[in-house]
Amino acid sequence: MIKPDSNIDNNISQKTSSHSIMNYYSRKSFANFALLSLLFSAVLYFCISSTSTSNPLLPFLRNHNFCSTPPNSMIKSFPVDELEAALEKASMPNKTVIIAVVNRAYVEQQGDDTSSTTTMLDLFLDSFWLGEETRPLLDHLLLVAVDQTAYDRCMFKRLHCYRLVTDGVDFGSEKVYMSSEFIKMMWGRTQFLLDVLNRGYSFIFTDTDVMWLRNPFTKLSKNETEDLQISTDVFNGKPRSEDNMLNTGFYYIRSNNKTISLFNTWYNMKDNSTGMKEQDVLCDLMKQGFFRQLGLRVTFLPTDHFSGFCHDTTDYWSVCTVHSNCCRHITAKIFDLSNILRDWRRFKGIVTQFPIDIARNKTMDFRWSPHTGCLNSWGPSKTSNATNKP
Ligand SMILES: *[C@@H]1O[C@H](CO)[C@@H](O)[C@H](O)[C@H]1NC(C)=O
Ligand SMILES: *[C@@H]1O[C@H](CO)[C@@H](O)[C@H](O)[C@H]1NC(C)=O
Ligand SMILES: *[C@@H]1O[C@H](CO)[C@@H](O)[C@H](O)[C@H]1NC(C)=O
Ligand SMILES: *[C@@H]1O[C@H](CO)[C@@H](O)[C@H](O)[C@H]1NC(C)=O
Ligand SMILES: *[C@@H]1O[C@H](CO)[C@@H](O)[C@H](O)[C@H]1NC(C)=O
Ligand SMILES: *[C@@H]1O[C@H](CO)[C@@H](O)[C@H](O)[C@H]1NC(C)=O
Repeated sequence: MIKPDSNIDNNISQKTSSHSIMNYYSRKSFANFALLSLLFSAVLYFCISSTSTSNPLLPFLRNHNFCSTPPNSMIKSFPVDELEAALEKASMPNKTVIIAVVNRAYVEQQGDDTSSTTTMLDLFLDSFWLGEETRPLLDHLLLVAVDQTAYDRCMFKRLHCYRLVTDGVDFGSEKVYMSSEFIKMMWGRTQFLLDVLNRGYSFIFTDTDVMWLRNPFTKLSKNETEDLQISTDVFNGKPRSEDNMLNTGFYYIRSNNKTISLFNTWYNMKDNSTGMKEQDVLCDLMKQGFFRQLGLRVTFLPTDHFSGFCHDTTDYWSVCTVHSNCCRHITAKIFDLSNILRDWRRFKGIVTQFPIDIARNKTMDFRWSPHTGCLNSWGPSKTSNATNKP
C-alpha cells in the first residue's frame, strides 16, 4: 500500500533527479554542439578548399558530395513515399513481391452465422502455414487494403500492409457484383498494379480466395523473356494458345516496357468499357491481338498446377494453388475453401506418416471434397448478389 505522503516524496525526489539529469544533458549537449560546430567548419573548409585541384581529399568529397544536392542514384534508392517503402520492405532481393488486395468483407466474419468463425484472409494465411515451402513467402506478401478495417486487420496480423485510397471512395462496404462501385474498385486495383510495375517491381498477383499449397515459384518459368504467366479457368493443353480462358485471380508478371504498356492500355480502357469487368477487358484486348502486337510473351498456366473450382486438379502431388473461381458468394467460398484445407491436411498427414511409395499408393484415389457451397451459390439466393471481391 502506498501512502499519499510517500507519493509526494517520490515526486520530489523524481523532480530533483530529473533536474540533475537535465543539467547533465545540457552540459552533454553543449559538448555535442561544440563537436558538431567543429565538424561543420571542417566540412565547410573542405568544400571551399576542394575548389583547389591539389586537395588530396577531392575524390572522397566528390563521391560524397557534401556541398551540392545528392546524386540521382541516392534519390532513387531512398524510399520516397509510402508505397515505395512498403514495396522495398516486402520485396525479395530480385525486386519481386506477392500482392493481394483485401477489403472489409474479406477480413471480417460473414453475417450473423456464428458457426463460421473464419474469414477469407484467415484461410488465405492458413494456406501459407499448411503449404509446402510457402511459409517464408509470407515475408514477401504485400497486403493492399482498400478500406480502414482491412488495413487495421492487416496491421494487427503484423503483415506488410499498404492502404490504397482511390478517389476518396470507401470500398469497405459490400460491393454488389458488377455495380458501378464494384467496377470502380476493380479499376482502382489495375491502376495500382500499373504503378507497381512502373516502379520496377515484378509481382505475383493473387486473389485471397486462392489457397497456396505449394511454392508457385517452383512451377513458374524463371526465363526473363516470359512477360506474363497467368492462370486459367479451363486449360486447353496449349500454354501459348489465346483460346485459353484466362483468370486474373492469379498471375506472375515481370516489370518491363511491354508489361507497363499492357497495363497502361488496359487501364485506359476503363472509360471505354462501361459495365465491363477488368478481366473481360483484358480478355478482349487479347482477342483483338494486342498481346501479339506488343510482342508480349504470355504463358497460360495449366489447371493441374494452378487449379480452381471451374476445373479441379486430380493431382495432389503437384498442385500449387486452388482458386475458388466459378463461385459467387463469399460465404460459399469460405465454406468450400475450408474443405480444401481439410482435404490438404489429410493428404499431408499421410505423406508425413508413410514412406513416399506407400503414401502415393494410399492417396492415389484422393479427390477434393465436392464444392457444394459454390455449386449452390449460382441458384436463387436468399441473401444478396454481392461477391464482395476487392
Ligand atoms: C526471385 O527470388 C525468389 C526467392 O529467391 C525466387 O524464388 C524467384 O524464382 C526469383 N525470381 C526470378 C525471376 O528469378
Ligand atoms: C528463354 O526463352 C527463350 C525464348 O524461348 C530461349 O531462347 C532462351 O534460351 C531461354 N533462356 C533460358 C535461360 O532458358
Ligand atoms: C524501355 O524503353 C526505353 C525507351 O525505348 C528504353 O530506353 C529502356 O531501356 C526500356 N526499358 C526496359 C526495362 O526495357
Ligand atoms: C473506344 O470505343 C470506340 C468505339 O468502340 C472506339 O472507336 C475507340 O477506339 C475506343 N477507344 C479506345 C481507347 O480503345
Ligand atoms: C498399392 O495398392 C494396391 C491396391 O490398392 C496394392 O495391390 C499394392 O500392393 C499397393 N502397393 C504398395 C507398394 O503398397
Ligand atoms: C442478382 O442480380 C441479377 C442481375 O443483376 C438480378 O436479376 C437478380 O434479381 C439479383 N438477385 C438477387 C437475389 O438480388
